Amino acid sequence: MRFFCRVLCFSVFLSLPALAELAKPTGLISEKAMVVSARREASQIGIDILKRGGTAFDAMIATEVALAVAYPSAGNISGGGFAVYRKANGETGALDYREKAPIAAHRDMYLDEQGKVIAGLSRLGAKSVGVPGTIAGIFAMHKKLGTLPMKELLQPAIDLANSGVLVTPYFKHSLERVRSSIEKVSGTDTLLTKEYEVGDKVVFSALADTLSRIAKNGRDEFYKGKTAKMMVEFLQSRGGYITLEDLEKYQAVWRKPVTYQYKNLTLTSMSPPSSGGVTIAQILGMIEPYNIGQFEHNSMPMISLLVEAERRAYADRNYYLGDPDFVDMPLQKLMDKAYLAKRMKTFSYDKATPSSEVARGNVQVYESMETTHYSIVDQFGNAVAVTTTLNASYGSKLFSKKLGFLFNNQMDDFSAKPGEPNMYGLVGGEANSIDAEKRMLSSMSPTIVEKDGKLSMVVGTPGGSTIITSVTQAILNVYEFGMSMQTAVDKPRFHHQWLPDLVLMEQKGFDDGLLKQLRAKGWNAKKGQLPVIGKVDAILVLPDGSLEGGADYRGDDSAVGW
Ligand code: GLY
Repeated sequence: MRFFCRVLCFSVFLSLPALAELAKPTGLISEKAMVVSARREASQIGIDILKRGGTAFDAMIATEVALAVAYPSAGNISGGGFAVYRKANGETGALDYREKAPIAAHRDMYLDEQGKVIAGLSRLGAKSVGVPGTIAGIFAMHKKLGTLPMKELLQPAIDLANSGVLVTPYFKHSLERVRSSIEKVSGTDTLLTKEYEVGDKVVFSALADTLSRIAKNGRDEFYKGKTAKMMVEFLQSRGGYITLEDLEKYQAVWRKPVTYQYKNLTLTSMSPPSSGGVTIAQILGMIEPYNIGQFEHNSMPMISLLVEAERRAYADRNYYLGDPDFVDMPLQKLMDKAYLAKRMKTFSYDKATPSSEVARGNVQVYESMETTHYSIVDQFGNAVAVTTTLNASYGSKLFSKKLGFLFNNQMDDFSAKPGEPNMYGLVGGEANSIDAEKRMLSSMSPTIVEKDGKLSMVVGTPGGSTIITSVTQAILNVYEFGMSMQTAVDKPRFHHQWLPDLVLMEQKGFDDGLLKQLRAKGWNAKKGQLPVIGKVDAILVLPDGSLEGGADYRGDDSAVGW
């Protein structure tokens, strides 16, 4: 232990050690441009737009809509997301198209008369649906930064919906896992409850019609037009809250992203209503003085250092963060290096700090975690990181046969009752309590990394509350542990979120001896409760300017280059 104390003392007081050299690439390499997303078809559509002279911003729109067709568990036109960009000239920005609570929403809407959370109400069916933001998001992106006509950007997804999406083993398995829930909420005769074999094609005709109406009539089709009316009728007939007024009032918002300096890296990530940027910054800020790169990757000291920083950062996240239009947040203070150093004063490599000593709460279990991320770098040097979601896998499980899509269950990202866990086991505070027209707190962390002032990495992942820790590990794997982008994505991941007080480790890649050692020192390590943690899709800019993709093997994720 004396060794670790020496390491700590020296590294706190001497200048910060340099980052690792970039490793030899092991992923797909391309010269000009790259799109990495959860499905090959969507990545290909993005690249095709670039080849037609479009920019990363055009490709973002085409890829987002393509994922709504090719990846219905999380891709969507009826959910929401965040995009963080860096233009070739270094200018950065962030687009918030997060869902909102309907006007009729109120603090206790998911509680019974005794004040207890009604199981499932914020997770399944029409009552769990937040006002969708994705269509507003792509039109806002197009208005500010798009160059090709919107119709051209939507057409590839319409064509894909009409020609059909290939059923892969992953797709088949994901449908099997949710079939009974979709049947319960939406009936047995929907497109997504049919039994498919690998190699079948799912033709989304109704979704193609909806997208064609949007291509013809523009943004208003979804927020005021026939599609809006169909949505409201459908949702209200099933007890939902969303009205035409909710849809008409919805606006995507341009936000100032979070920027944070870690050694000679500058991270640009999503600001509230996502907790992603601030919490990643806090974790990195807390570990920065300890020179994590000196340790063996995924060894005891490395895991204990990162876990203790995560514990403290999530305790702050859950207490302080919420929708910036409703809550005052001490963001600068939370990311202040002196504050973060103080937060780690109780850290020891030798003994876990119980979460009850960091702050208080109450805990429960996890469910499946969906959402999807894609990363784009174009031939002009522009970069976009986008994370988009229906929240749970296949959202609320509510599927409209006429509209051809599923609705989100994003209302569960609020604290239905402050102090009680949501489906990710996240125990939220007052800052994230429900209010009319408020945006629910997110963990989505689309992130762009600059090294020495130049574009270096575009990264993000799905995974609910594990998004923040997965993105952090992908970044550290490259810059501190000297891995290629693809290796960094492939490495096994672990996660701690303050409450529940557990170190969750992926099923593969951690040996039982390590778990025993962690447990002996008080870290409640569990393997396989989450079989996989995150599906990171990232792009690394190599020293010669070419691009390396990191497409996560855990899903159907695919890098397509040009
Ligand atoms: N629904 C997942 C997130 O926004 O973090």
